Amino acid sequence: MNIILMGPPGAGKGTQAEMIKDRFPIPHISTGDIFRDAVDKGSELGQEAQKYMSSGQLVPDEITTGIVEERIAQSDCEQGFLLDGFPRTTAQAQALDQSLSRLGKKIDLAINIDVPNELLIERLSGRISCQECKRVYNLSYNPPQEQGKCDSCGGELVQRSDDRGETVAKRLEVYSQQTRPLLQYYGKQGLLFNIEGSCGSSQVFTDIQKKLESL
Ligand code: AP5
Ligand code: MG
Repeated sequence: MNIILMGPPGAGKGTQAEMIKDRFPIPHISTGDIFRDAVDKGSELGQEAQKYMSSGQLVPDEITTGIVEERIAQSDCEQGFLLDGFPRTTAQAQALDQSLSRLGKKIDLAINIDVPNELLIERLSGRISCQECKRVYNLSYNPPQEQGKCDSCGGELVQRSDDRGETVAKRLEVYSQQTRPLLQYYGKQGLLFNIEGSCGSSQVFTDIQKKLESL
């Protein structure tokens, strides 16, 4: 089962990916998480990625596609994978198709989580996550039991640096210019499954689960 999770910043891709991987044992591959991890480590990749992420721009295709190509060729992806936040440009989608075809694989479904901009902005401004275990919370929808402290590991809860006003606006603009057109790319191939993402995360998951079980 090779799945792509699509949707604008704050649509709930990461939240749904966590729920999907508990139910369907396939690796969750988030390019955003890979880049944030590299930034935390201060690696060369992290330093390069940070230049783009901090202003809400996309990391160049040649960097991003190479990372995903390598990751999906690993043995834990043999039974499938869940891509979150990739592809984000037509060039990335074409590169993914080429890598998959070399591996004798194909995409089974592209899930698009649709949420209006006002709600995306509200969700992103309320998102906090654990510095240690990376668990994600929301001050309005899914707050921690104790303010500023992770329920799972007690780590400190912090805001993502690209979740501040101007950067959020830029990310939404970049999404609509560079990533939204991909919905047509997958629509034309009959692979697109649109989900209404404004409701609670368990409702969204129920819809996704039904679809995945029918594959
Ligand atoms: P990335 O990390 O992929 O960020 P994004 O696409 O902007 O998406 P988010 O992670 O912000 O949102 P999400 O959809 O995962 O929502 P979440 O579940 O957290 O990318 C970051 C950056 O990395 C990019 O800007 C770019 O620079 C770079 N990058 C990454 N991939 C790249 C690529 N392929 N090419 C080039 N550059 C790339 O939910 C958000 C909040 O809402 C949370 O607080 C959550 O608790 C809450 N929430 C979720 N669902 C619900 C619900 N149903 N109801 C109420 N609250 C909810
Ligand atoms: Mg995410």
